[in-house]
Amino acid sequence: MRTRRTARTIVAVVAAVLLTGSAAACGNSDTGDGSAADATITLGFSQVGAESGWRTANTTSIKEAAAAAGIELKFDDAQQKQENQIKAIRNFIQQKVDVIAFSPVVESGWDTVLKEAKDAGIPVILTDRSVDSADKSLYKTFLGSDFVKEGRLAGEWLVEQTKGASGPVNIVELQGTTGSAPANDRKEGFAQAIAANPNLKIVASQSGDFKRADGKQVMEQFLKANPKIDVLFAHNDDMGLGALEAITAAGKVPGKDITIITIDAVKDGMQALADGKFNFIAECSPLLGPQLMDLAKKVHAGEEVPARIETEETTFTQEQAKQALPNRKY
Ligand code: AHR
Repeated sequence: MRTRRTARTIVAVVAAVLLTGSAAACGNSDTGDGSAADATITLGFSQVGAESGWRTANTTSIKEAAAAAGIELKFDDAQQKQENQIKAIRNFIQQKVDVIAFSPVVESGWDTVLKEAKDAGIPVILTDRSVDSADKSLYKTFLGSDFVKEGRLAGEWLVEQTKGASGPVNIVELQGTTGSAPANDRKEGFAQAIAANPNLKIVASQSGDFKRADGKQVMEQFLKANPKIDVLFAHNDDMGLGALEAITAAGKVPGKDITIITIDAVKDGMQALADGKFNFIAECSPLLGPQLMDLAKKVHAGEEVPARIETEETTFTQEQAKQALPNRKY
């Protein structure tokens, strides 16, 4: 009798263990209240590309943060093409991911695909760059920098440096990717800051697509076409670093003959600043991964999140770059 009861107990325990095991293997452990609190979240992320040091650091931040947060990341590199991003987002919708995030290569042309995501009930988070959609309900939040402010800070520094300068100050501008939010906004912010100083004149402005090679090539053209260039405003470090090569090859001393202002503050840019080749950098932080994962969890859980989350940033002079460089992570 006693032996039969013991055997029944063992069978029951084994069954319970097996059941628990199979539930855990399914991953979706229902909490009983209809929610799936500890289920793995799948995040589809469409990245712009790999055009700059900033972008590489941003990709690393997102991948590392997803792994740390236990989020399954489906990562797609759009190679700076909007059609690739739209295709990736449609794939994410088909795969029924829990959350979609993306950094839009350009500002316009997203309404249709964003509506498709909304109709499929998949929340969308914008990171780094925003879109110009009038319907703000198409995405949950936008996490990223204030690009107009970055451009303004760059311009204000120049106004301060050229105070009392007699004669015209000729500026050339290397713009980021045409139609992208950072190119549009940095241009606008810089123009606003220098507007009250008619001696500060932008004599040439062209896109270098946020890339080092393009920055070099466009700067070569600027140097050929403009005998007197006093200042270069580059919308990112990489284009500024490319331009350095063109300036040196033209027999000029970067940072002295031509004042160089850039945006980002990645390690290579900070090194150029500390070495006296750049003169000022307005920071744009790529370390968005941890905040993005936090937001993905919240929107998946149906929690309200702020419509706009602005990244904290600073600026660097040559002296400040020397101090910050040893601890710079990217
Ligand atoms: O959107 C952020 C910008 O994109 C960075 O300033 C630039 O380096 C990158 O490619």
